Parts: sequence; structure tokens; C-alpha cells
Amino acid sequence: MADHSSSVFSQIARAPEDPILGVTVAYNKDSDTSKLNLGVGAYRTEEGKPLVLNVVRQAEQKLVNDPSRVKEYLPIVGLADFNKGSAKLIFGADSPAIQENRVTTVQCLSGTGSLRVGGEFLAKHYYEKTVYIPSPTWGNHPKIFTLAGLSVKTYRYYDPATRGLDFQGLLEDLGNAPTGAIVLLHACAHNPTGVDPTLDQWEQIRKLMRSKGLLPFFDSAYQGFASGSLDADAQSVRMFVADGGECFAAQSYAKNMGLYGERVGALSIVCKTADVASRVESQLKLVIRPMYSSPPLHGASIVATILKDSNLYNEWTVELKAMADRIISMRKQLLEALQARGTPGDWTHIIKQIGMFTFTGLNAEQVAFMTREYHIYMTSDGRISMAGLSSKTVPHLADAMHAAVTRGNMIIVAAYGGFLFVYRCHVSFLLEVGML
Ligand SMILES: Cc1ncc(COP(=O)(O)O)c(C=O)c1O
Repeated sequence: MADHSSSVFSQIARAPEDPILGVTVAYNKDSDTSKLNLGVGAYRTEEGKPLVLNVVRQAEQKLVNDPSRVKEYLPIVGLADFNKGSAKLIFGADSPAIQENRVTTVQCLSGTGSLRVGGEFLAKHYYEKTVYIPSPTWGNHPKIFTLAGLSVKTYRYYDPATRGLDFQGLLEDLGNAPTGAIVLLHACAHNPTGVDPTLDQWEQIRKLMRSKGLLPFFDSAYQGFASGSLDADAQSVRMFVADGGECFAAQSYAKNMGLYGERVGALSIVCKTADVASRVESQLKLVIRPMYSSPPLHGASIVATILKDSNLYNEWTVELKAMADRIISMRKQLLEALQARGTPGDWTHIIKQIGMFTFTGLNAEQVAFMTREYHIYMTSDGRISMAGLSSKTVPHLADAMHAAVTRGNMIIVAAYGGFLFVYRCHVSFLLEVGML
């Protein structure tokens, strides 16, 4: 019998589950047939199944059929065609920065790896070590940048009262950031709120940041997924690159090509001169080499095959738009279902928000209720993945949301001065004011 008490690891505390991936762990354990996973940001078909894009299947077939392909290591910076195509995709095919060789692009392990490599590079070579991230943001951002060696601060982004952008708060906080601070911006489809600045607001953000010498670091995890157009979803990034200033961009092909597990992404750094860009690239290699040596071949080959072939590229844009449109239609259906049930409150933010997620406004207690009573799984901040919904499951979700919102509501009727007053309020409020 092994003596467990003698293990050198016996003092190790159990770490908590990741708040997002832990939702799927809990979902998998649930045996109820009506269970619904709206936690993780992965696209599902109307039938609730994961989707492999047709263009991806075709590209893979092409790769398999090519006998000249070998499995040699890629260079440290990854596949050249993939890097070229990725830069064009995010900055635009006619981008002067690309034509002037001012951009260095390195293939990384999806969006997360691109952010991490960018973070490590900045911690090593940039004078200002503070990165400002929006509040709220994707839960991995603070961990990625802290572990990369940067100091993380937040700027105001979301206003719960309007369920929209806290634009004044954002401008104030960035206006008070120290000169040179790094600012993490979601290129489109902000996660978790689904709230994006308008183009006019982006222009104001750009002007403020450039006037203060703040360094933009775009996280582009949803290009094409928000509006259905690859160009429209890259406009924020392109505005910053067009002014000739420096800019970082982390791209992910997880969502827009459905290559989640292939871990395909890119980090691009736009510099002011070609010479600086090539020196930056030489240092990026020193960050990557001891981290994972070189990136994986297969996923990047799929992407490069699609980006290089105009037929496959066009087909991709059609498939991408279909995914975006299905998500937009889920938004409409959910709003209509809540309105049909007379669920109290204004739910129009569901169709105003964009991208994979809706930030419902449901609180942790309501989320726990929906999981317990309706077997619906989501993050405790009330974020739901619209991509995990289908026409069949919308009514179940609407029932659960309706029950969560109206649960504990009481109608109070009071007579005063010959008038009858009718109030609806929550039990917790009545308890708080001592009426129960
Ligand atoms: C805002 C944001 N950034 C980056 C990522 C990175 O994803 P991946 O590493 O799978 O590309 C995600 C994924 O959910 C995200 O939502």
C-alpha cells in the first residue's frame, strides 16, 4: 500500500475549477435530458452539435492528398503563408503598414497564446509595465498578463444601469492612465458584455490614446463572428493602424474558422519602421523558443490553405456569415420569447449586444436557480453563449429566465386617500425594509 501522507505533494491545496471551463465540467455531470450548456463560447448548430466548417474539411482533404507534405518542425515564428494571410485579414489586404514591412506577425497558440507572447514581450522590452483591461473582461486576461510579468489595472467599460457602454467612465480612466500604458481593447464582440463602442466612439478612444501615448493591444477573437463581415469587425483595429502608430493585435481562428482545439492564432506587432519590426521579430523568437519552441503545423496549414485559395476564402465568408446570422436570429427569438411571457424588465439589450455572448443582467443567485431548477449552465455573471442556443431550446431558456426574474416577486395592494396602489416587489426587498 502506498503511503499517501509521505507524498512530497501532500500539502498541495486543491485549485478551484476555471470559472468558465468549470461550467462544462458541472454540465457533463448532470444527467437531466433537458440540460443546456450556455457557458463555454463554442458554436453549436441548430441541432446543438459542434460544427466543422465545410471549407475546413476541404482544406484538410487537400492537405492529406498532397504527398509532398511532411511533418518537419515549423520555424519559431510559424508558417510564413499563415502569418502573411493573418496580417492581411486583420489589417486589410491593402494596408500600408504591411506594404511597408512595418508589421511582424508570429504564429501562436490561438488567441490565448498570442496574448501571452505579446504580454511577455512587453514585460521584457517595453518601459511601461501596466496594462489596462476593461471591466469586466474575459476572465483569462488578468491571469495571462499578470503571469507575463505586467501589472494589471482596469478601466470602466460596462454600465449595468444601461446595459451598455460606460463611455464617459472609459474616457476618464484612460485619460488618467500613465503615459505609455498598454490598453487591452476587444476588437469587436466584447466578451462577456457583447457591448462594442460605435465607430465614432472608437475614433474618440483612438484620439485620446494617441494623444496620451497609450499603446493599443487588440484582442481579436471574433473577427467575422460579430457582424458576419470580416472587414466590418476589423474596423477598430484598422483605424488605429491607419494613423501610423504602433499597435498589437492577437488573432484567434477558434471561433471564426471553428478551429478551437487546433489552437491557431497570430500575434502581429505594427511598428513605425521596417527595421524596428525586424528587430522586434528577432526578440519575439527569444520569447517563443524557450516557451514551446515552435508552433503546431496542422491548424495553421488549414488556415493558410483557405486564405490563399479565393474559392475556399469566399466559401468561408459565406459559412462565417451563416454562423453570425444564426446567433443574431437566436437573439431575436429569445427577446420575443421573453416578451411573450411578459417577463418584467427591458430585455432589448439582448438584440443590441453583439457577438457570441449576451450579458443578461441576471445575478449569481438567479443563475444558480436556473441551473438548479432548469439544468441551464452559464457563468455566474449571467453571461450566456448565444451560439449554444437553438430554436428548440429558446423556450426552455425563456421559461427559466422568466421564473428566475419573477421568483419571489409579490404583489402589494395598498389603499391610501381613496386610491388603490398596486406594487410589485421582491421578497428580499420586503425583508430588508422590515415588512415581512
Ligand atoms: C476575448 C477573448 N480573447 C481571447 C480568447 C482566446 O481564445 P483561444 O485561445 O481559444 O483562441 C477568447 C476565447 O474565449 C476570448 O473570448
